[in-house]
Amino acid sequence: MKLAVPKETRFKENRVALSPDVVKDLVKKGFEVLIETGAGLNSFFEDAAYSTAGGQIISDKNALYAAADVVMKVNAPAADEIAKMKKEAILISFMWAATSPELVDACCKAGISAFSMDAVPRISRAQKMDALSSQANLGGYKAVLLAANTIGKLLPMMTTAAGTIRPSKVVIFGAGVAGLQAIATAKRLGAVVEVTDIRPETKEQVESLGGKFIVVKGDTSIKIEGGYVKGVSEEFLKMQQELVAKHVKEADIVITTALIPGKKAPLLVTEEMVKSMRFGSVIVDMAVEQGGNVVGSELNKTVQKHGVTIIGEGNIPSLLPMNASDLYAKNIQTILLHLADKDAFKWEMDEEITKGSLIVHKGNAVHPSVNKTVNA
Ligand code: NAI
Repeated sequence: MKLAVPKETRFKENRVALSPDVVKDLVKKGFEVLIETGAGLNSFFEDAAYSTAGGQIISDKNALYAAADVVMKVNAPAADEIAKMKKEAILISFMWAATSPELVDACCKAGISAFSMDAVPRISRAQKMDALSSQANLGGYKAVLLAANTIGKLLPMMTTAAGTIRPSKVVIFGAGVAGLQAIATAKRLGAVVEVTDIRPETKEQVESLGGKFIVVKGDTSIKIEGGYVKGVSEEFLKMQQELVAKHVKEADIVITTALIPGKKAPLLVTEEMVKSMRFGSVIVDMAVEQGGNVVGSELNKTVQKHGVTIIGEGNIPSLLPMNASDLYAKNIQTILLHLADKDAFKWEMDEEITKGSLIVHKGNAVHPSVNKTVNA
């Protein structure tokens, strides 16, 4: 089976789907691996490293797509690239299928099959394939560093001859994978960390990392399915906002990570809250690509609002491309080896991971999250 790794084309994308180490392993297992020239350069993997690992470097992107039995990417290819794939070839990448009807349509038209990394079920045996977690974890770490590097003060307490510097206060919205790593990172840097989340079970996790949990009284309107928040009432959000506003006012740094899968991110930091913050404070809105948690944040921009710097970096894991690509490569290798051997895909259609991540099967949109009309 021929696996192909094109160079990523998304704006500010430094990651690549396979690392030389993973290529070496796949070649040993009997796969042929084709890599587009320079695909790994932004992750600091040279073409020579892929060649040494047994990969073949191909300079013609069209030829690469046309030769592939499986295209392995971080971000989904563009429609014209998908059109170049062989009928019955297979794509594995992030797809965000529920909100990308044109992409699903392009896969159907090309007659290919497509698995989405963001749709891999979050069950224990799929943990090694969980690219959402591997990338969010790195993102949470880097978000704290971005803020620490921007703010004009220290994070830890420091006692000096000229006086004692108080530690910075960091408020984190959302204690999922990114939020928990942000807590751990900010604590390691010596900050005082306060956290809000609407899933009550996060309180214990936050406290075990040394964070202080801001308790909002529970509400039966919070719907949780498979560990995810599926919905929350307006009244609850209002109550949360009033309570959290006091903490934001005192914060030096605010990091927001709150997401609701398949929906726009909840707006949690209002303009009033931004205004209330001290001159020189910093906010990192990690949800900016899903619409943002912060009023005034702008995708891929750093802006100043009411004396506060709001960082809207869209693809934070890509700022750590060495680790991000390494971990992603292991995630995508694991799902590939789960779904296929060197000769063919198994197509175990009732198996949980296959069923959960398969968006298009041989030109038919099959995933429940996808509007069936693209099938027409
Ligand atoms: P996410 O990226 O979808 O959301 C981030 C956080 O924002 C979540 O903790 C969520 O509760 C919170 N949030 C949503 N609305 C909010 C609001 N209005 N105010 C404050 N916080 C809000 O979540 P992520 O990081 O993808 O993890 C989601 C769940 O999946 C967690 O329960 C996690 O433990 C679980 N998980 C399970 C895995 C497995 O079993 N293999 C692997 C990874 C995650």
